[in-house]
Amino acid sequence: MSIFDTSFVKPWADPEIVQMHRRSMRSIHTTYTDIDTARTGDRTSSSWFASLNGQWKIKRYVDVNEVPASAITDDTKSWTSISVPGNWTLAGLGDEPHYTNVQMPWKGRPPTLPPTVATAVHRTTFTVAKNWKDRRTVLHIGGAESVHLVYVNGAFVGYGTDSRLPSEYDISAALTSGKNELAVVVCRYSAQSHLEDQDQWWMAGLHREVFLTSQAMIGINDVRVDAGVVRKSLRTTPVGTLGVHVQLNVPHDEKLQRGWTAVAHLETLAGKRVGKEHSVDVPWFDSPYVFAGHVADISWDVAKVDLWSAENPTRYRVIVQLVNPAGDVVDVVPVITGFRSVEVRKRALLINGERVMIRGVNRHDHHPDKGKAVDVEDMRADLVLMKQHNVNAVRCSHYPNDSRLLDLCDELGLYVIDEANAESHAWNTSLCHDPGYRATWMSRISRMVERDKNHPSIIMWSLGNEAGYGAVHDAASQWIRSYDPSRPLHYEGAIFHAGWVDGGLMSSDIVCPMYSTIDDIVAYGKSGKGARPLIMCEYSHAMGNSNGSLADYWEAFENTPGLQGGFVWEWKDHGLTQCLPNGTTRLAYGGQFGDTPNDGNFVADGLIHADMTPHPVMRELAWVHRPISVELKSKNKDPHLVIRNRQWFSDLSGYKATWELLVDGVVAKTGKLTVPKIAADSSAKVDIPVIIPHDAHEVFFSVTWTLARDTAWASKGHVVSWDQVTLRKSSPVGATIPATSILPLDISPQVTLWRAPVDNDGFKLMDQHHGGGRSLARWSEQGIATDDADMVESITTITELSGGAVKYEHTVVIPHDMADVPRIGAMFSIPARFTRVRWYGNGPHECYPDRESSAMVGIYEGAPDELPYLVPQEFGLRTDCRWMEFIDTKKGHVLRVEADGCLLHMSAIHHSAHDLFAASEQAELVRQQALNVHLDIAHRGVGTASCGPDTLAKYRIAASEYTFAYVVSYR
Ligand code: GAL
Repeated sequence: MSIFDTSFVKPWADPEIVQMHRRSMRSIHTTYTDIDTARTGDRTSSSWFASLNGQWKIKRYVDVNEVPASAITDDTKSWTSISVPGNWTLAGLGDEPHYTNVQMPWKGRPPTLPPTVATAVHRTTFTVAKNWKDRRTVLHIGGAESVHLVYVNGAFVGYGTDSRLPSEYDISAALTSGKNELAVVVCRYSAQSHLEDQDQWWMAGLHREVFLTSQAMIGINDVRVDAGVVRKSLRTTPVGTLGVHVQLNVPHDEKLQRGWTAVAHLETLAGKRVGKEHSVDVPWFDSPYVFAGHVADISWDVAKVDLWSAENPTRYRVIVQLVNPAGDVVDVVPVITGFRSVEVRKRALLINGERVMIRGVNRHDHHPDKGKAVDVEDMRADLVLMKQHNVNAVRCSHYPNDSRLLDLCDELGLYVIDEANAESHAWNTSLCHDPGYRATWMSRISRMVERDKNHPSIIMWSLGNEAGYGAVHDAASQWIRSYDPSRPLHYEGAIFHAGWVDGGLMSSDIVCPMYSTIDDIVAYGKSGKGARPLIMCEYSHAMGNSNGSLADYWEAFENTPGLQGGFVWEWKDHGLTQCLPNGTTRLAYGGQFGDTPNDGNFVADGLIHADMTPHPVMRELAWVHRPISVELKSKNKDPHLVIRNRQWFSDLSGYKATWELLVDGVVAKTGKLTVPKIAADSSAKVDIPVIIPHDAHEVFFSVTWTLARDTAWASKGHVVSWDQVTLRKSSPVGATIPATSILPLDISPQVTLWRAPVDNDGFKLMDQHHGGGRSLARWSEQGIATDDADMVESITTITELSGGAVKYEHTVVIPHDMADVPRIGAMFSIPARFTRVRWYGNGPHECYPDRESSAMVGIYEGAPDELPYLVPQEFGLRTDCRWMEFIDTKKGHVLRVEADGCLLHMSAIHHSAHDLFAASEQAELVRQQALNVHLDIAHRGVGTASCGPDTLAKYRIAASEYTFAYVVSYR
């Protein structure tokens, strides 16, 4: 036996063992042999890159202690195949996905492991190209959940942790000239899991790419590019500053000869040289004490540089060459960069000197079929959809993504908060003080910064999420501040545990709370206290039918000093495709895989469905984020439009504007809006280009802005902004009574107070959790859930009008002890033959009283809405309708409901509120033939109480007497 017997060392159980034989982190880049190939940016055309993605063999063991040594070398013919990248929890191998939020899937203080640690041996083979001989072969494992051990030809070559960052190993010594056997053993859980306790599915496997690179024994190991901006004043042309740091690999027992040089130049992406080439000698002098590393530093200024911003993401390429003493180019490394500055000054986050509002979303890696193994097309699809909805920032919640996501953010233009994979939510206040975890904390944070330093899109480093606040955070912060002073720091834990005004200053340059009330953030802004801007790291929890008051948040962000936007929680539902025994599939949430404990459908809280279908709120999101706004102002009785350019770096030449005049619901005139040049972040007065007709009752004027040219994220004609202003307002009028109108059916409307609760009203699937508002619990106690309108006094009057139309009038009294009901309205069903719905009111998309800013008044028509949410709940409302018609397209008959002296919120769907409430998933929901119509005089706002403040008081239903009427006719 050798003296190096490691059989008692179980790295997966020991948080202190962060890595074994793993190489230091560096940026993700590719080395080429010549400049032309380097410019293609296509790593597969490099001689020094070989992908190992594809079908591998896999064998899964119930527990890590059961994996025999032979699993590393055994014949794998009988083993199952799996795609790498992939998650074995989606491969039917006996381990299912497991969803928890705060709680860990098992009990016990860190570093307790679950009773068994499922482990899978992943195997593949490869041969190394002949020209890789006498060079260093490096294995790159993009991400393995949770920890992994690597063996090449039976020899142990290393161990790595942090499931969301790559690990690289020098495997040269273990290679043979023929076929090589690679085994990667992945443990699903480990002592590290306690620091990866994010609110998401626990998966397992090699979920990111695996590849090999070949490095010259003396060659470029890493390149760091610092591109900044200096500008004397806002009016002077910015000057770019460039620092290029080239770090060499030199075998430690070899002396570097004199005469190696690093050469660098800047060019456009089209390959046009910007300025001259710069070269410096690589330091070769390596005497103790004075040795400063084999790092060549080159820096120069670049006059007249185009800056990078989310609006204009201008990128450049730095080409670095390493030349040996004989004058041969050994390595060529291209690095994409962008010139921009980020700083915090006087309660503002400044990007290129401008106080840019953060219109952000939180994004997790998620795909309904691939789980965590999202590919580059999936990432692009997410980011393109964000850009199409005027999102300008993304928080990598709660871990670094594949670095190709950052490449895409650089390209498309998105400001990024890069967040370290450090969340100890279950042990929120203790783990950060545990010395056993100190090394992993430091490693996770510093390795993220080292990998991602070159991306212009990253504007802040985040230390992690919900992981307490301790000395380890301040230590890591100071490391970043020294290593990369160019970017501010973000850490919610610091301000949560230490205070907004002057707490946690070392670890957060931003006050970045989650789910605070509007009152609280406005109070911070108005207080003038503190030196930091407030940017909400999470707000407007998008679980189910949600995001009430999004526009109220934006009203506050835009009109309060010190407030600068935020990141909506969260981008996408995490539903996972699950095949059921009956051959059907569903998008599953927590618990549906038999995973216990779990947090149910709290995993489905996205602005978009897991299959990428936008939820209706995405229109509201695009509107609050819109780059141009139009308002009606009336100074000295001279009504005019005020057009505001809500961008910071561009004029409006990229857009075209058209207008529409809507007279009593009908489009009376349209035209192109001529707009003067409006500089970034400024506004202009524009005359209303049309005369308001005298005899009109109500008149609206809408302006729509579209892209004038194709962009990387949308085609010409894509709608970016819209606004509707009211030119003539009228109070609701009496219904028009048609001359003849015999109703062919008895609709018998029933008064109702009930809606199928939205997730914000309370969690119907999780008794033990209560949504912030607890409305569902209250309604159930009161009996509204079962007895509905019988709980209150109401009178219905039915009047048959001459000609056959019928007028219904309802009076409902809500006493004080019943205040804050779900809705006050009437409900009836009509036969299936009415297949289309037309209405004059807010639309075209679903809207609620606290989520209707993006809606415009108009006459719209469509098929009845289908449930857009994963878990059945209230949906499909249109607010402030004048009338609604139901059309039997076959016979051409129309049933018309016209509000009489009021505006009504209406919906028409194929489900009843009771069916929606009773169903825990879509498969349990039977779509009725009949259409259920709701006409509401009041409807409670949807709010965001599933995580955050309840519906604002102004959108709740007060105790009072409510009277509403409508006329039903038929033609
Ligand atoms: C936050 C957390 C997120 C998510 C959210 C609720 O506390 O940072 O990861 O859990 O709440 O969906």
